[in-house]
Amino acid sequence: LENGSLSIIVLGASGDLAKKKTFPALFNLFRQGFLQPNEVHIFGYARTKITDEELRDRLRGYLVNDKGASPKDLEDVANFLQLIKYVSGSYDSGEGFQLLDKEISEHEVLKNSTEGSSRRLFYLALPPSVYPSVCKMIRHFCMNKTDLGGWTRVVVEKPFGKDLQSAEELSSQIGELFDEPQIYRIDHYLGKELVQNLLVLRFANRMFLPLWNRDNIDNVQIVFREDFGTEGRGGYFDQYGIIRDIIQNHLLQVLCLVAMEKPVSLKPEHIRDEKVKVLQSVLPIKDDEVVLGQYDGYKDDPTVPDLSNTPTFASMILRIHNERWEGVPFILKAGKALSSRKAEIRVQFKDVPGDIFKCKKQGRNEFVIRLQPSEAMYMKLTVKQPGLDMLTVQSELDLSYRQRYQGVTIPEAYERLILDTIRGDQQHFVRRDELKAAWEIFTPLLHRIDDGELKPLPYKPGSRGPDAADELLEKAGYVQTLGY
Ligand code: BG6
Repeated sequence: LENGSLSIIVLGASGDLAKKKTFPALFNLFRQGFLQPNEVHIFGYARTKITDEELRDRLRGYLVNDKGASPKDLEDVANFLQLIKYVSGSYDSGEGFQLLDKEISEHEVLKNSTEGSSRRLFYLALPPSVYPSVCKMIRHFCMNKTDLGGWTRVVVEKPFGKDLQSAEELSSQIGELFDEPQIYRIDHYLGKELVQNLLVLRFANRMFLPLWNRDNIDNVQIVFREDFGTEGRGGYFDQYGIIRDIIQNHLLQVLCLVAMEKPVSLKPEHIRDEKVKVLQSVLPIKDDEVVLGQYDGYKDDPTVPDLSNTPTFASMILRIHNERWEGVPFILKAGKALSSRKAEIRVQFKDVPGDIFKCKKQGRNEFVIRLQPSEAMYMKLTVKQPGLDMLTVQSELDLSYRQRYQGVTIPEAYERLILDTIRGDQQHFVRRDELKAAWEIFTPLLHRIDDGELKPLPYKPGSRGPDAADELLEKAGYVQTLGY
């Protein structure tokens, strides 16, 4: 990392995201030596009137597990918390932000005055409704001191808008205050180990190059399941639904990396150029290629309206209109309150032409990339069943990360992405035109759901979702492997 003083300002410091994700990620970076106490200062900012010590107390329990904490853990926590100061103020008045700027500036002067001493990272762990006013405040009162060099960067979270129009409005408002290289739109799926591995897998392995296309691949599934409902966040969730919460961002980003052409280089702009092209090639989603679901009991949450039409499950086929993918269905599926927690990509290959073994009956070649839990990649193959007879059986070539990389800790997505923002690497962040293209794909469908024209089917919590989703999968051509 560059030298000089670094201030990380977490706005919305007492909220859920900050406590559960942002501060723990900062703590992990601190423990690994990326945030040096003599350079870094962390500021929490929120409306609640509490002291530095009270904020530290609130965060402590999220940093390490109380029961399993070693003396070293506790010492690290104490040292980390000492770096944190708290400033309270509103999100739309100058007073609080002037105070914040004063605190940051004092720290910068104290630390030293070398070139690059005014590096300021603002992390907006806030609802998007306050982004414009907060960005305005930062722009007016809290920019880095140019005489000390450095930079100002702003990190924003999803939901970035509710549809194409609102997202574009938000983008323009923020775009008037900050340039694109200063804006980091986080999609934490881009920080997951196996998502980052997709580029390497596709473009550093000769064996995949000739196979990765419509001639060989029959269908692709990108699936997200959770085995818990919207407990505690029904009020938030009900305004967005599963498509805005998971599919329009997380799963679509994964689709881009699976489907994009080889970028000219690893430069962020080259990668994002290719992702945008994929998004712009996606055809309008057809009503009969969408299944929506809502789990029984979802509306029992007092914060969810009794007549809510919000889907907690959705499965749909996306079709990419280009030379590589014409005719290959990409099935995106996400659901809450299902039978298991899992996120995976399944690339299913076509049947072997002129098959002499009757392989088709047992199943096709399938390449599975499990993002979580237990990161893994495995390839389903047909092999001769060991023994005297010439029988075939489905087996796997299996790369399970826990076994293969024993002792290696896989970094949390947020940890990696925050480090990228400090380093100024936008490769794993969503560019404005990418966001726009993503909303263009889903906005017509979302409006039809919001207007009540499309209705979710009920499903039992703990199930696989509505049966109609399995029928859609079959229609898309997916073939189940025997015995799986
Ligand atoms: C968030 C969604 O973006 O991702 C949540 O808002 C969801 O609803 C979460 O639970 C899932 O993230 P992960 O990393 O646990 O798969």
